[in-house]
Amino acid sequence: MKKEVLAAETGHNEIVIKDYTFEKFIVKSEIDSIVHSLARRINIDYQGKYPLFLIVLKGSIFFAVDILREITIDCEIETVTAKSYGDEMVSSGNVLLSLSNVKFSGKDIIIIEDIIDSGLTLHSLINRLKHSGAKSIETIAFLMKTGQQKTNVDIKYVGKNIPPDFVIGYGLDYAEKGRNLPDIYKLKSVPD
Ligand code: IMP
Ligand code: MG
Repeated sequence: MKKEVLAAETGHNEIVIKDYTFEKFIVKSEIDSIVHSLARRINIDYQGKYPLFLIVLKGSIFFAVDILREITIDCEIETVTAKSYGDEMVSSGNVLLSLSNVKFSGKDIIIIEDIIDSGLTLHSLINRLKHSGAKSIETIAFLMKTGQQKTNVDIKYVGKNIPPDFVIGYGLDYAEKGRNLPDIYKLKSVPD
């Protein structure tokens, strides 16, 4: 059995959680430059508008905070909790959404997602919002796994396209661990 490496022990090139080994994949400096260029695009595209950013919890917390600090236009912020993974590495497809009683009518909504895998979470959320009277609904996703989508999702702002590996860090978890890692790690090996 490998020693579990705590997420807090940063600086490691490898992290071990429940005998699964993850290797460093996207370093913080690259994360920062992706966030910066996405924020610039939104500041330009939404000039003169008053968008409502809808943060999909919990995974998007870190990304949302970073990007919203760089948004210079007036805006509103709301949150929605989405749960579909449990402790598995594949989406169950069973998406639980808890959306408070927010008035979306007439609003330009920008959904903030951490990562798009099957696309089912985003699809359920957009379906819920479709009847809310929103003026427009767009999505910004920090990461998108190529070739994994099981549904047609149109994502206007994608930070980075990645291969379909399981990743942790920068808000993303494996069984609730690893969210606080400043860098992103991808799965390298599974237990024997
Ligand atoms: P989807 O519904 O399959 O697109 O998955 C969307 C949600 O599952 C994301 O918002 C994440 O919270 C989570 N997720 C997808 N891929 C990963 C991953 O590689 N690591 C950690 N969480 C993930
Ligand atoms: Mg998420």
